[in-house]
Amino acid sequence: MNPPRPLIVAPSILAADFGRLGEEVRAVDAAGADWLHLDVMDGHFVPNITFGPDLVRALRPHTAKLFDVHLMIAPADPYLEAFAAAGANAITVHAEAGPHVHRSLQAIRALGLRAGVAINPGTPAAAIEPVLDLADLVLVMSVNPGFGGQSFIASACETISRVAAMTAGREIDIEVDGGITPETAQLAVQAGANVLVAGSAIFKGGAAGYAGRIAAIRDAAEQATGRWV
Ligand code: DX5
Ligand code: ZN
Repeated sequence: MNPPRPLIVAPSILAADFGRLGEEVRAVDAAGADWLHLDVMDGHFVPNITFGPDLVRALRPHTAKLFDVHLMIAPADPYLEAFAAAGANAITVHAEAGPHVHRSLQAIRALGLRAGVAINPGTPAAAIEPVLDLADLVLVMSVNPGFGGQSFIASACETISRVAAMTAGREIDIEVDGGITPETAQLAVQAGANVLVAGSAIFKGGAAGYAGRIAAIRDAAEQATGRWV
């Protein structure tokens, strides 16, 4: 049995002040973020538009922490190289975003990055079983992607449990994204998640609270399972 995967708190800059993003990245880095979660949306796969590789490149000098790039775009393959060159460390593509997720994961690994596969709340865990050999991370969405500030969909916990069973003994991170608070973080880690993405729960309320809000999520997760204390 492998040791448990480390607990990771990954603030999503979707909820940060877009007029001061460099400063915001430095602030959550200093406040204890493990990774930075960067949400890329195309107005096609999801009903919202955010940013592309140029912004990732512009933020790269502001932190040495892992850039966890979540692509909510279709197609994704034509842009993988640009996100890698911009400084992404991990790239996650959606299983629903194209017919060849296997090829996308291979391409991400060929670029030397960690490859992630994401599933929406309406997609069964079984959808990603055939590609687990190519995945370093599975992202289970706990809201329908497109916007921050939505409520956690509880059925995501069942999906996380199924993914945890499928990935047992493998070095694969299980990430949960959407509606994460200290309370829902507990449900997600009890189900088997180890990477917690949080936007609103960290960024809303001002920079003076970033460290306390990151710590609150981390502490709740540690207490919920005892796995990391
Ligand atoms: C939603 C994004 C999330 C989002 C989470 O489509 O993938 O990363 O920023 O935001 P909160 O934590 O506010 O639900
Ligand atoms: Zn995300």
